[in-house]
Amino acid sequence: MLRSHHCGALNENHSDEEVTLAGWVQKVRNKGFIVWVDIRDRYGITQLVFDQERTPEMVYKKSLVLGREDVIQIKGKVIERESKNPSMTTGGIEILVEELTVMNAAKTPPFTIENQTDGGDELRMQYRYLDLRRTPVRENLIFRHKVTMAVRNFLSQADFIDVETPYLIKSTPEGARDFVVPSRMNSGQFYALPQSPQTFKQLLMIAGFDKYFQIVKCFRDEDLRADRQPEFTQIDCEMTFIEQEDVLLQFEAMIQHLIKEIKGVTLEDFPRMTFTEAIEKYGNDKPDIRFGMTFGELNALAQNKGFNVFDSQELVVGIAVPGGANMTRKEIDAWIEWVKRPQMGAKGLVWVKCNEDGSYKSTVDKFFSEDDLSQWADATGAKAGDLIFVMAGAAQATRTQLSALRMEIAEQLGLRKSDRFAPLWVTDFPLLKWDDETQRHHAMHHPFTSPKKEDLELLDTDPGKVMANAYDLVLNGNEIGGGSIRIHDTALQEKIFRLLGFTEKEAQEQFGFLMDAFQYGAPPHGGIALGLDRLVAILSGSETIRDFIAFPKNNNGRDVMIDAPAMLEDAQLEELCLKSLPKDPL
Ligand code: AMO
Repeated sequence: MLRSHHCGALNENHSDEEVTLAGWVQKVRNKGFIVWVDIRDRYGITQLVFDQERTPEMVYKKSLVLGREDVIQIKGKVIERESKNPSMTTGGIEILVEELTVMNAAKTPPFTIENQTDGGDELRMQYRYLDLRRTPVRENLIFRHKVTMAVRNFLSQADFIDVETPYLIKSTPEGARDFVVPSRMNSGQFYALPQSPQTFKQLLMIAGFDKYFQIVKCFRDEDLRADRQPEFTQIDCEMTFIEQEDVLLQFEAMIQHLIKEIKGVTLEDFPRMTFTEAIEKYGNDKPDIRFGMTFGELNALAQNKGFNVFDSQELVVGIAVPGGANMTRKEIDAWIEWVKRPQMGAKGLVWVKCNEDGSYKSTVDKFFSEDDLSQWADATGAKAGDLIFVMAGAAQATRTQLSALRMEIAEQLGLRKSDRFAPLWVTDFPLLKWDDETQRHHAMHHPFTSPKKEDLELLDTDPGKVMANAYDLVLNGNEIGGGSIRIHDTALQEKIFRLLGFTEKEAQEQFGFLMDAFQYGAPPHGGIALGLDRLVAILSGSETIRDFIAFPKNNNGRDVMIDAPAMLEDAQLEELCLKSLPKDPL
């Protein structure tokens, strides 16, 4: 056997035992007549001693040339340390080495493989296998494994069946852009990688599987951010003979179970909020409800009082910053500059200090009485000692800007506590959203989402007003899941495709298989998909999913380690018919 123990296993109870360890050299300290070497593996670090007096001479000499990251095997005796390190599980012992084998010498790594490293982002991504040796990075992936296992066990016990669906499918124009794969055997034709297994899981319900899940890679060619990768993982689920309430309760139970098992935290029933309420109160459909600062609409209180800046605008809206009355002029000005940055695009901020003595001080004292301002305070929930920030403009843009301000202020005030979990169901989304650019409706969720029964008639008269049986799961201000009750009727599905601008031919070409399937006994069904990467990151107190993916892409969608994407050789392009693509005869 190459080892008798792991590098994190030994303690005083093993004193005097002869052991064999194998691992990587973490650190070498040469004190002249004694050499200490830390040996590391996935489980921990053990200190080795090579002592000029007690270690065989050849072995001692070999220890002098050991370098960081060499792979070594040692045999030796466990002895108690003179000065113990109580912060390490192996800190009470060291191994007096008797035999040393260098299994593979290593080049000096391009950055230090320690918890705090000197390697920059790009370098660590280029040598990701070395970065993965670092404890914090490895722990993130072990944490992900625990979450995945807990999810699998929970769903399996709840009778969900894990079914794999294909990765080589057909491109559809809905949603994000597809990644496409040329087919050698069908020249000039392409597969697409799935943005999600949506249609397949619906077909599994038609096939009678009743409850399906899959922890599955999805691929979307979209712009990347901290919470977005071009390939990411969903916990994808679907259920038959259910209503929205069944889905919400099932997945609420799953998240509660998960957070209890992984974090030891018990969560109450999840609050719910309609999409409209979320937009009006938080300016956004994934509100972070770990803190207040909800929006107060001020149109009725602040317009037609002679202040032009407000009068002409669609929306005047404010938030109360807790304790903000203490802000200096400079601090307030910094916030005003923050909202005026081009990426925010706001015109400015009006502010009101709610002084401790009950008086008010604002930039607009000339136009508004103390009584007016006290009504603003009521509307925004501001108390003595708070500061009210007010924005005015077109409703949607202003809400988005104020929402960004709310989040940034909360971040700076330390209100976005990473060890607190505030889940929320957002329900009652509109079925469609109007796109000015293409001058047509798009599906807010996806084209398979069912409209609310009571809104069916509106489909013909005012489709923009139709609400959907769709829901999102939000955790700490991040959308971690989304789902809906599906259409299971051919006529209704055809009608929705028409509303979305598909011709009958296009709908048939792209989704004919699904509409056909609806005619062979499709049961009512619905489901949800949770973003595993986001869920794991948030449970671990972060919002950067890249840290929880073994081999992530950078912000340009590149894997800098394997240097992908890359050009193809001419011969390969030729074989794939990519040099001169035949034109579609239609
Ligand atoms: P949706 O598009 O809302 O729904 O996706 C579900 C969840 O997947 C996560 N997610 C992402 N995570 C990382 N990087 C990305 N690029 C990315 N895009 C999405 C989010 C999101 O909430 N088929 C439907 C689900 C259904 O209706 O059942 C779907 O894919 O956390």
